[in-house]
Amino acid sequence: MDYKKTDWRKSMELKVDYNNMMADYIGADQGFTLDDFSANKKVVNDAYKTVMANRGKGMMGWTELPYNQKEIVADIIATAKDIKKKFDNFVVLGIGGSALGPIAVFQALCHLRHNELPKSKRKFPKLYVEDNVDPERMAALLDVLDLDKTIFNVVTKSGATSETMAQYLIIMDILKKKYGEKAKDHMIATTSENKGNLIKIAKVEGLKTFYIPDGVGGRFSELCPVGLLPAAVVGIDIKAMLAGAQHMDKICKNKDLRKNPALITALLEFMAMKKGKNISVMMPYADSLKYIADWYCQLWGESLGKAVDNDGNEVFVGQTPVKALGVTDQHSQVQLYREGPFDKVITIIAVESFRKTVDISEGCKDIPDVSFLCGHTMNELINTERKATEYALTTAHRLNYTITLPEVNAFTIGELLYLFEMETAFTGAMLNINTFNQPGVEGGKNATYALFGRKGYESTKQEMDTAPKKNPEYVC
Ligand code: PA5
Repeated sequence: MDYKKTDWRKSMELKVDYNNMMADYIGADQGFTLDDFSANKKVVNDAYKTVMANRGKGMMGWTELPYNQKEIVADIIATAKDIKKKFDNFVVLGIGGSALGPIAVFQALCHLRHNELPKSKRKFPKLYVEDNVDPERMAALLDVLDLDKTIFNVVTKSGATSETMAQYLIIMDILKKKYGEKAKDHMIATTSENKGNLIKIAKVEGLKTFYIPDGVGGRFSELCPVGLLPAAVVGIDIKAMLAGAQHMDKICKNKDLRKNPALITALLEFMAMKKGKNISVMMPYADSLKYIADWYCQLWGESLGKAVDNDGNEVFVGQTPVKALGVTDQHSQVQLYREGPFDKVITIIAVESFRKTVDISEGCKDIPDVSFLCGHTMNELINTERKATEYALTTAHRLNYTITLPEVNAFTIGELLYLFEMETAFTGAMLNINTFNQPGVEGGKNATYALFGRKGYESTKQEMDTAPKKNPEYVC
Protein backbone atom coordinates (compact mmCIF):
# COMPACT_ATOMS: atom_id res chain seq x y z
CA MET A 1 0.00 0.00 0.00
CA ASP A 2 1.87 3.00 -1.23
CA TYR A 3 -0.46 5.78 -0.17
CA LYS A 4 2.33 8.33 -0.17
CA LYS A 5 2.49 8.15 -3.99
CA THR A 6 0.05 10.31 -5.95
CA ASP A 7 -0.46 7.72 -8.69
CA TRP A 8 -1.30 5.00 -6.21
CA ARG A 9 -3.77 7.24 -4.38
CA LYS A 10 -5.39 8.11 -7.70
CA SER A 11 -5.66 4.42 -8.59
CA MET A 12 -7.45 3.80 -5.29
CA GLU A 13 -10.07 6.53 -5.67
CA LEU A 14 -13.67 5.46 -5.17
CA LYS A 15 -16.08 6.00 -8.05
CA VAL A 16 -19.70 7.01 -7.67
CA ASP A 17 -21.85 6.03 -10.65
CA TYR A 18 -25.27 7.68 -10.43
CA ASN A 19 -26.50 6.96 -13.96
CA ASN A 20 -29.35 4.93 -12.50
CA MET A 21 -30.63 7.93 -10.57
CA MET A 22 -31.11 9.87 -13.81
CA ALA A 23 -34.29 10.12 -15.85
CA ASP A 24 -32.42 9.05 -19.02
CA TYR A 25 -31.88 5.62 -17.51
CA ILE A 26 -34.58 5.14 -14.91
CA GLY A 27 -37.43 6.95 -16.61
CA ALA A 28 -38.80 10.47 -16.26
CA ASP A 29 -41.25 9.51 -13.55
CA GLN A 30 -38.64 8.48 -11.01
CA GLY A 31 -35.34 9.86 -12.26
CA PHE A 32 -33.66 13.24 -12.07
CA THR A 33 -32.39 15.59 -14.76
CA LEU A 34 -29.68 18.20 -15.04
CA ASP A 35 -32.50 20.75 -14.75
CA ASP A 36 -33.24 19.36 -11.29
CA PHE A 37 -29.59 19.96 -10.40
CA SER A 38 -29.90 23.56 -11.60
CA ALA A 39 -33.18 24.07 -9.75
CA ASN A 40 -31.43 23.06 -6.51
CA LYS A 41 -28.37 25.22 -7.07
CA LYS A 42 -29.07 27.44 -4.08
CA VAL A 43 -29.74 24.49 -1.75
CA VAL A 44 -26.45 22.93 -2.85
CA ASN A 45 -24.44 26.14 -2.55
CA ASP A 46 -25.87 26.95 0.86
CA ALA A 47 -25.21 23.41 2.14
CA TYR A 48 -21.67 23.50 0.78
CA LYS A 49 -21.00 26.87 2.44
CA THR A 50 -22.50 25.74 5.77
CA VAL A 51 -20.42 22.57 5.89
CA MET A 52 -17.21 24.31 4.82
CA ALA A 53 -17.74 27.17 7.28
CA ASN A 54 -18.28 24.75 10.15
CA ARG A 55 -15.38 22.40 9.44
CA GLY A 56 -13.41 21.72 12.59
CA LYS A 57 -15.85 23.71 14.71
CA GLY A 58 -18.54 22.65 17.18
CA MET A 59 -19.60 19.09 16.48
CA MET A 60 -17.68 19.03 13.20
CA GLY A 61 -14.34 18.32 14.88
CA TRP A 62 -14.28 15.00 12.97
CA THR A 63 -13.23 16.79 9.75
CA GLU A 64 -9.82 17.40 11.33
CA LEU A 65 -9.18 13.81 12.46
CA PRO A 66 -7.26 12.87 9.29
CA TYR A 67 -4.85 15.73 10.01
CA ASN A 68 -4.43 16.34 13.74
CA GLN A 69 -3.65 13.02 15.42
CA LYS A 70 0.07 12.47 14.86
CA GLU A 71 0.98 12.00 18.51
CA ILE A 72 -2.18 10.09 19.32
CA VAL A 73 -1.56 7.69 16.45
CA ALA A 74 1.99 7.09 17.70
CA ASP A 75 0.65 6.35 21.19
CA ILE A 76 -2.02 4.02 19.77
CA ILE A 77 0.52 2.10 17.69
CA ALA A 78 2.87 1.73 20.67
CA THR A 79 -0.01 0.61 22.92
CA ALA A 80 -1.19 -1.89 20.30
CA LYS A 81 2.32 -3.34 20.07
CA ASP A 82 2.44 -3.78 23.82
CA ILE A 83 -1.02 -5.39 23.86
CA LYS A 84 0.08 -7.82 21.15
CA LYS A 85 3.00 -8.92 23.33
CA LYS A 86 0.94 -9.47 26.47
CA PHE A 87 -2.57 -10.43 25.41
CA ASP A 88 -4.49 -12.66 23.05
CA ASN A 89 -7.97 -11.09 23.34
CA PHE A 90 -9.02 -7.46 23.01
CA VAL A 91 -12.60 -6.78 24.10
CA VAL A 92 -14.38 -3.51 23.35
CA LEU A 93 -17.16 -2.59 25.78
CA GLY A 94 -19.29 0.06 24.08
CA ILE A 95 -22.46 0.67 22.12
CA GLY A 96 -23.70 2.71 19.13
CA GLY A 97 -20.94 4.92 17.77
CA SER A 98 -18.51 3.38 20.23
CA ALA A 99 -18.98 -0.09 18.72
CA LEU A 100 -20.28 -0.05 15.14
CA GLY A 101 -17.15 1.51 13.62
CA PRO A 102 -14.75 -0.97 15.24
CA ILE A 103 -16.98 -3.88 14.11
CA ALA A 104 -17.21 -2.55 10.53
CA VAL A 105 -13.50 -1.90 10.11
CA PHE A 106 -12.49 -5.21 11.68
CA GLN A 107 -14.75 -7.10 9.27
CA ALA A 108 -13.53 -5.05 6.31
CA LEU A 109 -9.81 -5.28 6.89
CA CYS A 110 -9.03 -8.44 8.81
CA HIS A 111 -9.26 -12.06 7.73
CA LEU A 112 -12.97 -12.87 7.61
CA ARG A 113 -12.39 -15.65 10.17
CA HIS A 114 -9.76 -13.77 12.16
CA ASN A 115 -10.84 -14.97 15.62
CA GLU A 116 -11.02 -18.57 14.45
CA LEU A 117 -7.52 -18.65 12.98
CA PRO A 118 -4.78 -20.37 14.96
CA LYS A 119 -2.48 -17.86 16.64
CA SER A 120 0.40 -18.66 14.28
CA LYS A 121 -1.69 -17.48 11.32
CA ARG A 122 -3.64 -14.76 13.10
CA LYS A 123 -0.56 -12.96 14.46
CA PHE A 124 -2.68 -10.35 16.28
CA PRO A 125 -5.11 -10.63 19.23
CA LYS A 126 -8.70 -11.69 18.69
CA LEU A 127 -11.24 -8.86 18.76
CA TYR A 128 -14.63 -8.96 20.45
CA VAL A 129 -17.00 -5.99 20.43
CA GLU A 130 -19.69 -6.30 23.07
CA ASP A 131 -22.46 -3.88 22.15
CA ASN A 132 -25.41 -5.25 24.09
CA VAL A 133 -26.42 -6.02 27.64
CA ASP A 134 -27.94 -9.39 26.93
CA PRO A 135 -26.96 -11.43 30.01
CA GLU A 136 -26.55 -14.60 27.97
CA ARG A 137 -24.07 -12.88 25.69
CA MET A 138 -21.99 -11.59 28.59
CA ALA A 139 -21.99 -15.01 30.23
CA ALA A 140 -21.01 -16.64 26.93
CA LEU A 141 -18.14 -14.20 26.45
CA LEU A 142 -16.81 -14.92 29.93
CA ASP A 143 -17.00 -18.63 29.13
CA VAL A 144 -14.60 -18.29 26.21
CA LEU A 145 -12.11 -15.75 27.54
CA ASP A 146 -8.88 -16.60 29.28
CA LEU A 147 -8.69 -13.49 31.47
CA ASP A 148 -4.93 -13.75 31.90
CA LYS A 149 -4.68 -13.15 28.14
CA THR A 150 -7.46 -10.54 27.87
CA ILE A 151 -7.52 -6.77 27.90
CA PHE A 152 -10.74 -4.73 27.81
CA ASN A 153 -11.34 -1.33 26.25
CA VAL A 154 -14.31 0.51 27.74
CA VAL A 155 -15.48 3.15 25.28
CA THR A 156 -18.04 5.83 26.02
CA LYS A 157 -17.92 9.46 25.05
CA SER A 158 -20.52 10.59 27.57
CA GLY A 159 -19.06 8.32 30.22
CA ALA A 160 -22.61 7.70 31.33
CA THR A 161 -24.24 5.22 28.96
CA SER A 162 -25.97 2.59 31.11
CA GLU A 163 -25.09 -0.37 28.91
CA THR A 164 -21.40 0.42 28.75
CA MET A 165 -21.07 1.37 32.40
CA ALA A 166 -22.89 -1.82 33.44
CA GLN A 167 -20.43 -3.86 31.38
CA TYR A 168 -17.54 -1.95 32.94
CA LEU A 169 -18.81 -2.59 36.49
CA ILE A 170 -19.19 -6.31 35.82
CA ILE A 171 -15.79 -6.75 34.22
CA MET A 172 -13.85 -4.52 36.61
CA ASP A 173 -15.29 -6.41 39.57
CA ILE A 174 -14.17 -9.72 38.08
CA LEU A 175 -10.73 -8.30 37.31
CA LYS A 176 -10.28 -6.85 40.79
CA LYS A 177 -11.26 -10.12 42.43
CA LYS A 178 -8.75 -11.97 40.27
CA TYR A 179 -5.87 -9.52 39.99
CA GLY A 180 -6.31 -7.00 42.85
CA GLU A 181 -4.23 -3.89 42.14
CA LYS A 182 -3.15 -5.29 38.79
CA ALA A 183 -6.72 -5.20 37.46
CA LYS A 184 -5.91 -1.88 35.84
CA ASP A 185 -3.45 -3.60 33.51
CA HIS A 186 -6.44 -5.34 31.88
CA MET A 187 -8.53 -2.23 31.18
CA ILE A 188 -8.14 0.79 28.88
CA ALA A 189 -10.65 3.65 28.89
CA THR A 190 -11.57 5.71 25.82
CA THR A 191 -13.72 8.68 26.77
CA SER A 192 -14.05 12.47 26.94
CA GLU A 193 -11.13 14.22 28.57
CA ASN A 194 -13.17 16.55 30.73
CA LYS A 195 -16.74 15.30 30.86
CA GLY A 196 -18.63 12.34 32.28
CA ASN A 197 -18.02 9.67 34.87
CA LEU A 198 -15.64 7.37 33.07
CA ILE A 199 -12.79 9.86 33.09
CA LYS A 200 -13.20 10.29 36.86
CA ILE A 201 -13.23 6.52 37.36
CA ALA A 202 -10.24 6.06 35.03
CA LYS A 203 -8.22 8.55 37.05
CA VAL A 204 -9.07 6.91 40.37
CA GLU A 205 -8.27 3.45 39.01
CA GLY A 206 -5.14 4.61 37.19
CA LEU A 207 -6.29 3.31 33.80
CA LYS A 208 -4.48 3.97 30.54
CA THR A 209 -6.79 6.44 28.80
CA PHE A 210 -7.42 7.69 25.28
CA TYR A 211 -9.58 10.73 24.62
CA ILE A 212 -12.53 11.33 22.31
CA PRO A 213 -12.32 14.94 21.14
CA ASP A 214 -15.26 17.16 22.19
CA GLY A 215 -16.26 17.94 18.61
CA VAL A 216 -16.47 14.29 17.58
CA GLY A 217 -19.85 12.65 18.17
CA GLY A 218 -20.27 8.89 18.66
CA ARG A 219 -21.23 8.03 15.09
CA PHE A 220 -18.43 10.21 13.66
CA SER A 221 -15.77 8.73 15.94
CA GLU A 222 -14.35 5.77 14.01
CA LEU A 223 -11.31 7.75 12.90
CA CYS A 224 -10.36 8.82 16.45
CA PRO A 225 -9.09 6.50 19.23
CA VAL A 226 -12.55 4.88 19.46
CA GLY A 227 -11.85 3.06 16.20
CA LEU A 228 -8.12 3.48 15.76
CA LEU A 229 -7.08 1.57 18.89
CA PRO A 230 -9.07 -1.64 18.17
CA ALA A 231 -7.98 -1.42 14.53
CA ALA A 232 -4.30 -1.09 15.41
CA VAL A 233 -4.57 -3.97 17.89
CA VAL A 234 -5.72 -6.34 15.13
CA GLY A 235 -2.94 -5.20 12.81
CA ILE A 236 -4.76 -2.69 10.60
CA ASP A 237 -2.65 0.09 9.11
CA ILE A 238 -4.37 3.05 10.78
CA LYS A 239 -2.08 5.59 9.10
CA ALA A 240 -3.27 4.33 5.72
CA MET A 241 -6.88 4.55 6.88
CA LEU A 242 -6.39 8.18 7.90
CA ALA A 243 -4.58 8.88 4.62
CA GLY A 244 -7.63 7.54 2.76
CA ALA A 245 -9.91 9.80 4.78
CA GLN A 246 -7.62 12.74 4.08
CA HIS A 247 -7.66 11.97 0.36
CA MET A 248 -11.45 11.84 0.34
CA ASP A 249 -11.63 15.04 2.38
CA LYS A 250 -9.70 16.86 -0.35
CA ILE A 251 -12.05 15.50 -3.02
CA CYS A 252 -15.10 16.52 -0.97
CA LYS A 253 -13.86 20.10 -0.76
CA ASN A 254 -14.49 20.48 -4.50
CA LYS A 255 -17.12 23.17 -5.12
CA ASP A 256 -18.16 21.57 -8.39
CA LEU A 257 -21.23 19.46 -7.64
CA ARG A 258 -20.46 16.94 -10.37
CA LYS A 259 -16.90 16.41 -9.11
CA ASN A 260 -17.75 16.10 -5.43
CA PRO A 261 -19.08 12.60 -4.67
CA ALA A 262 -20.39 13.54 -1.21
CA LEU A 263 -22.20 16.63 -2.49
CA ILE A 264 -23.79 14.93 -5.50
CA THR A 265 -24.98 11.91 -3.52
CA ALA A 266 -26.32 14.25 -0.82
CA LEU A 267 -28.29 16.16 -3.46
CA LEU A 268 -29.62 12.97 -5.03
CA GLU A 269 -30.77 11.63 -1.64
CA PHE A 270 -32.21 15.04 -0.73
CA MET A 271 -34.21 15.22 -3.97
CA ALA A 272 -35.31 11.61 -3.51
CA MET A 273 -36.56 12.40 0.00
CA LYS A 274 -38.56 15.30 -1.41
CA LYS A 275 -40.21 12.75 -3.73
CA GLY A 276 -41.11 10.53 -0.77
CA LYS A 277 -38.27 8.04 -1.02
CA ASN A 278 -38.02 7.53 2.71
CA ILE A 279 -35.90 4.40 2.74
CA SER A 280 -32.18 4.21 2.09
CA VAL A 281 -30.92 0.71 1.37
CA MET A 282 -27.18 0.11 1.74
CA MET A 283 -26.18 -3.03 -0.13
CA PRO A 284 -22.51 -3.93 -0.33
CA TYR A 285 -21.55 -6.80 -2.62
CA ALA A 286 -18.80 -8.11 -0.35
CA ASP A 287 -18.93 -9.85 3.00
CA SER A 288 -16.03 -7.71 4.13
CA LEU A 289 -18.28 -4.64 3.83
CA LYS A 290 -21.30 -6.21 5.49
CA TYR A 291 -20.95 -4.23 8.72
CA ILE A 292 -20.12 -1.00 6.90
CA ALA A 293 -23.85 -1.12 6.14
CA ASP A 294 -24.64 -1.35 9.89
CA TRP A 295 -22.32 1.54 10.62
CA TYR A 296 -23.93 3.56 7.81
CA CYS A 297 -27.41 2.83 9.20
CA GLN A 298 -26.50 4.50 12.48
CA LEU A 299 -24.77 7.42 10.79
CA TRP A 300 -27.64 8.11 8.39
CA GLY A 301 -30.54 7.31 10.72
CA GLU A 302 -29.33 9.08 13.85
CA SER A 303 -27.99 12.11 11.99
CA LEU A 304 -30.89 12.80 9.66
CA GLY A 305 -33.93 11.52 11.54
CA LYS A 306 -35.03 14.76 13.16
CA ALA A 307 -38.34 16.24 14.33
CA VAL A 308 -37.45 19.92 14.03
CA ASP A 309 -35.30 21.98 11.70
CA ASN A 310 -32.79 24.66 12.63
CA ASP A 311 -35.57 27.28 12.69
CA GLY A 312 -37.67 25.29 15.14
CA ASN A 313 -40.26 24.10 12.60
CA GLU A 314 -41.58 20.57 12.93
CA VAL A 315 -40.28 18.69 9.90
CA PHE A 316 -40.06 14.98 10.86
CA VAL A 317 -37.43 14.25 8.22
CA GLY A 318 -35.04 11.39 7.56
CA GLN A 319 -34.76 8.20 5.59
CA THR A 320 -35.04 4.81 7.27
CA PRO A 321 -31.72 3.10 6.58
CA VAL A 322 -31.85 -0.57 5.71
CA LYS A 323 -28.87 -2.89 5.45
CA ALA A 324 -28.70 -5.56 2.82
CA LEU A 325 -25.95 -7.83 1.53
CA GLY A 326 -25.25 -8.78 -2.05
CA VAL A 327 -25.73 -11.43 -3.26
CA THR A 328 -27.37 -12.94 -0.17
CA ASP A 329 -30.33 -10.54 -0.16
CA GLN A 330 -31.01 -11.04 -3.84
CA HIS A 331 -32.78 -14.13 -2.57
CA SER A 332 -34.93 -12.22 -0.07
CA GLN A 333 -35.22 -8.43 -0.04
CA VAL A 334 -34.57 -7.71 -3.72
CA GLN A 335 -38.07 -8.99 -4.55
CA LEU A 336 -39.43 -6.06 -2.51
CA TYR A 337 -36.92 -3.58 -3.89
CA ARG A 338 -37.88 -4.40 -7.46
CA GLU A 339 -41.63 -4.81 -7.11
CA GLY A 340 -42.69 -3.13 -3.85
CA PRO A 341 -43.46 0.54 -3.25
CA PHE A 342 -41.40 3.22 -4.99
CA ASP A 343 -40.05 4.48 -1.67
CA LYS A 344 -36.37 3.56 -1.73
CA VAL A 345 -32.95 4.63 -2.91
CA ILE A 346 -30.61 1.67 -3.15
CA THR A 347 -26.88 2.25 -2.74
CA ILE A 348 -24.81 -0.61 -4.04
CA ILE A 349 -21.18 -0.92 -2.99
CA ALA A 350 -19.03 -2.77 -5.49
CA VAL A 351 -15.50 -4.12 -5.17
CA GLU A 352 -13.52 -4.25 -8.39
CA SER A 353 -10.77 -6.57 -7.27
CA PHE A 354 -11.20 -9.01 -4.39
CA ARG A 355 -8.24 -10.03 -2.23
CA LYS A 356 -8.74 -13.69 -3.11
CA THR A 357 -9.70 -15.52 -6.28
CA VAL A 358 -11.70 -18.73 -6.11
CA ASP A 359 -12.17 -20.76 -9.30
CA ILE A 360 -15.40 -22.57 -9.91
CA SER A 361 -14.42 -26.16 -10.54
CA GLU A 362 -15.08 -28.06 -13.73
CA GLY A 363 -17.75 -30.74 -13.50
CA CYS A 364 -21.26 -31.73 -14.47
CA LYS A 365 -20.18 -31.47 -18.15
CA ASP A 366 -23.30 -33.29 -19.29
CA ILE A 367 -25.64 -30.84 -17.49
CA PRO A 368 -25.34 -27.54 -19.40
CA ASP A 369 -27.58 -25.73 -16.88
CA VAL A 370 -24.85 -26.23 -14.28
CA SER A 371 -21.71 -26.43 -16.43
CA PHE A 372 -22.18 -22.87 -17.73
CA LEU A 373 -20.53 -21.82 -14.44
CA CYS A 374 -17.37 -23.83 -15.14
CA GLY A 375 -14.21 -21.99 -16.04
CA HIS A 376 -15.41 -18.89 -14.20
CA THR A 377 -14.52 -17.60 -10.74
CA MET A 378 -16.60 -16.67 -7.70
CA ASN A 379 -15.19 -13.17 -8.26
CA GLU A 380 -16.86 -13.04 -11.68
CA LEU A 381 -20.05 -14.51 -10.29
CA ILE A 382 -20.51 -11.99 -7.48
CA ASN A 383 -19.80 -9.01 -9.73
CA THR A 384 -21.94 -10.37 -12.54
CA GLU A 385 -24.82 -10.84 -10.14
CA ARG A 386 -24.33 -7.28 -8.90
CA LYS A 387 -24.57 -5.96 -12.47
CA ALA A 388 -27.61 -8.14 -13.04
CA THR A 389 -29.32 -6.71 -9.95
CA GLU A 390 -28.47 -3.16 -11.01
CA TYR A 391 -30.04 -3.92 -14.38
CA ALA A 392 -33.13 -5.53 -12.82
CA LEU A 393 -33.65 -2.56 -10.49
CA THR A 394 -33.13 -0.03 -13.25
CA THR A 395 -35.51 -1.68 -15.69
CA ALA A 396 -38.10 -1.64 -12.89
CA HIS A 397 -37.47 2.14 -12.51
CA ARG A 398 -35.93 1.82 -9.03
CA LEU A 399 -33.49 4.55 -8.01
CA ASN A 400 -30.02 3.11 -7.42
CA TYR A 401 -26.42 4.14 -7.58
CA THR A 402 -23.12 2.34 -7.16
CA ILE A 403 -19.99 3.22 -5.23
CA THR A 404 -17.01 1.20 -6.45
CA LEU A 405 -13.91 0.47 -4.41
CA PRO A 406 -10.95 -0.58 -6.59
CA GLU A 407 -10.12 -2.98 -3.74
CA VAL A 408 -10.80 -3.25 -0.02
CA ASN A 409 -7.80 -1.95 1.91
CA ALA A 410 -7.18 0.44 4.80
CA PHE A 411 -6.91 3.42 2.44
CA THR A 412 -10.16 2.76 0.56
CA ILE A 413 -12.02 2.06 3.81
CA GLY A 414 -10.79 5.41 5.13
CA GLU A 415 -12.10 7.01 1.94
CA LEU A 416 -15.46 5.25 2.18
CA LEU A 417 -16.12 6.11 5.84
CA TYR A 418 -15.20 9.72 5.25
CA LEU A 419 -17.32 9.92 2.09
CA PHE A 420 -20.39 8.79 4.03
CA GLU A 421 -19.65 11.22 6.85
CA MET A 422 -19.39 14.15 4.42
CA GLU A 423 -22.47 13.03 2.51
CA THR A 424 -24.38 12.95 5.80
CA ALA A 425 -23.15 16.44 6.72
CA PHE A 426 -24.16 17.87 3.32
CA THR A 427 -27.56 16.17 3.39
CA GLY A 428 -28.24 17.46 6.91
CA ALA A 429 -27.34 20.97 5.79
CA MET A 430 -29.69 20.66 2.79
CA LEU A 431 -32.46 19.58 5.16
CA ASN A 432 -31.57 22.51 7.45
CA ILE A 433 -31.41 20.27 10.52
CA ASN A 434 -28.92 19.65 13.30
CA THR A 435 -27.09 16.61 11.92
CA PHE A 436 -24.98 16.14 15.01
CA ASN A 437 -27.42 15.89 17.91
CA GLN A 438 -29.50 12.86 18.94
CA PRO A 439 -32.33 13.93 21.25
CA GLY A 440 -34.24 10.77 20.34
CA VAL A 441 -31.43 8.49 21.54
CA GLU A 442 -30.95 10.59 24.66
CA GLY A 443 -34.70 10.36 25.39
CA GLY A 444 -34.34 6.59 25.71
CA LYS A 445 -31.17 6.88 27.79
CA ASN A 446 -32.87 9.30 30.19
CA ALA A 447 -35.92 7.08 30.58
CA THR A 448 -33.62 4.19 31.57
CA TYR A 449 -31.86 6.37 34.14
CA ALA A 450 -35.25 7.40 35.53
CA LEU A 451 -36.56 3.83 35.76
CA PHE A 452 -33.38 2.75 37.58
CA GLY A 453 -33.83 5.64 40.04
CA ARG A 454 -30.75 7.60 38.99
CA LYS A 455 -30.39 10.90 40.85
CA GLY A 456 -31.37 13.92 38.77
CA TYR A 457 -34.00 12.05 36.75
CA GLU A 458 -36.85 12.27 39.28
CA SER A 459 -39.12 14.39 37.07
CA THR A 460 -38.77 11.94 34.15
CA LYS A 461 -39.61 9.12 36.59
CA GLN A 462 -42.67 11.00 37.80
CA GLU A 463 -43.77 11.67 34.23
CA MET A 464 -43.37 7.97 33.40
CA ASP A 465 -45.26 6.91 36.53
CA THR A 466 -48.22 9.08 35.57
CA ALA A 467 -48.32 7.86 31.96
CA PRO A 468 -51.49 5.88 31.10
CA LYS A 469 -51.25 2.31 32.39
CA LYS A 470 -51.37 -0.46 29.79
CA ASN A 471 -54.75 -2.00 29.14
CA PRO A 472 -54.58 -5.78 29.68
CA GLU A 473 -57.37 -6.17 27.15
CA TYR A 474 -54.93 -5.18 24.44
CA VAL A 475 -52.64 -8.06 25.36
CA CYS A 476 -53.34 -11.59 24.16
O1 PA5 B 1 -23.84 8.69 17.87
C1 PA5 B 1 -24.09 8.80 19.07
O2 PA5 B 1 -23.85 9.86 19.68
C2 PA5 B 1 -24.66 7.66 19.89
O3 PA5 B 1 -25.15 6.63 19.12
C3 PA5 B 1 -23.60 7.14 20.84
O4 PA5 B 1 -22.50 6.68 20.12
C4 PA5 B 1 -24.12 6.01 21.73
O5 PA5 B 1 -25.32 6.38 22.34
C5 PA5 B 1 -23.09 5.69 22.81
O6 PA5 B 1 -22.78 6.83 23.53
P1 PA5 B 1 -21.49 6.95 24.42
O7 PA5 B 1 -20.30 6.86 23.57
O8 PA5 B 1 -21.61 8.26 25.10
O9 PA5 B 1 -21.55 5.81 25.40
